[in-house]
Amino acid sequence: MAETLSAPRVVAADETATLAIETRDLAKTYGRITALAGLTMTVPRGEIFGFLGPNGAGKTTAVKLLVGLTHPTSGEGWVLGAPIGDRLARRRIGYLPELFRYQDWLSAREVLELHCELAGIPKNERKREVEEALETVGLASRADDRVATFSKGMQQRLGLGVAMLGQPDLIFLDEPTSALDPVGRHDIREIIRGLKARGTTVFLNSHLLSEVELVCDRVAVIDRGRVIALGTIPDLLGETGAVRLRVTGLSPSAEILFHRFGSVEIHDDWYTVRGIDPDAVPDLVAEIVRVGGRVHTVEPRQQTLEERFLQLLGGAT
Ligand SMILES: Nc1ncnc2c1ncn2[C@@H]1O[C@H](COP(=O)(O)OP(=O)(O)OP(=O)(O)O)[C@@H](O)[C@H]1O
Ligand SMILES: [Mg+2]
Repeated sequence: MAETLSAPRVVAADETATLAIETRDLAKTYGRITALAGLTMTVPRGEIFGFLGPNGAGKTTAVKLLVGLTHPTSGEGWVLGAPIGDRLARRRIGYLPELFRYQDWLSAREVLELHCELAGIPKNERKREVEEALETVGLASRADDRVATFSKGMQQRLGLGVAMLGQPDLIFLDEPTSALDPVGRHDIREIIRGLKARGTTVFLNSHLLSEVELVCDRVAVIDRGRVIALGTIPDLLGETGAVRLRVTGLSPSAEILFHRFGSVEIHDDWYTVRGIDPDAVPDLVAEIVRVGGRVHTVEPRQQTLEERFLQLLGGAT
């Protein structure tokens, strides 16, 4: 069964100005393949929005529709208040495509200069834009090296630099860290936070859940072209408490005491109790001790986004 944590909202007219993205039943089919089936959602301006889903879910298709690279089969969408594909709105959008390749023979600086020209950035602003992009993505020391000599991760940084040119209001990043090492991923998260601090809306396609968890204000989970969950990370993870304890000395018959507090899962000495009222944790511990158990560890157990993601995808089959 599909699960939607927050139903699509009805958007009032005065809200349009505060929305970076709005879609209504946006769909794309390629022959018999449904790449995206009726996407309805809104992304307020200034938000970091994560778009999550397994391979082939429709993430890249959604981004291509929103940036106007492909046309919807049905449905509607608005980006920065204008219908998707609008030329003026497109000038205020930055885009890091999933699969890109810059001209091998150009240097990083030349690639950025070329894109300034393509984006119509005024000549007197180009130098500052290029230097700032190089600095922000950490390529200043390699600015005059040719792209042919760059590692995948360096090319991805360059792609991010290109997406940032002209200080766009909205940036689409399609798997921006797929080629990056942990330090590179950390750097990109910092860059994304910096973009948010200056008011840029960031739409982040990713299947790297821990990364999305760390940086996004809200996320949509899509599977086979449909949104199966949408909300903040706490919304998605649910608010019910869970606690994990390491207990020794309990007889199997004593384990029944856990059921009064919530559902229990046992692995060796570890007991995970889900759905427990946080105020009842001391009572649970006292009860374990009363029946002869020895409590070594008590820790809150928050479901990870990855666990929730797998649960949602499992539920959607
Ligand atoms: N140009 C195309 N022609 C035919 N089918 C396509 C085309 N582009 C995408 N599809 C199909 O649409 C579906 C969604 O693809 P999409 O690239 O949007 O997925 P994704 O979520 O970005 O996946 P990934 O995580 O692998 O990047 C897939 O079944 C894919 O094969
Ligand atoms: Mg993709």
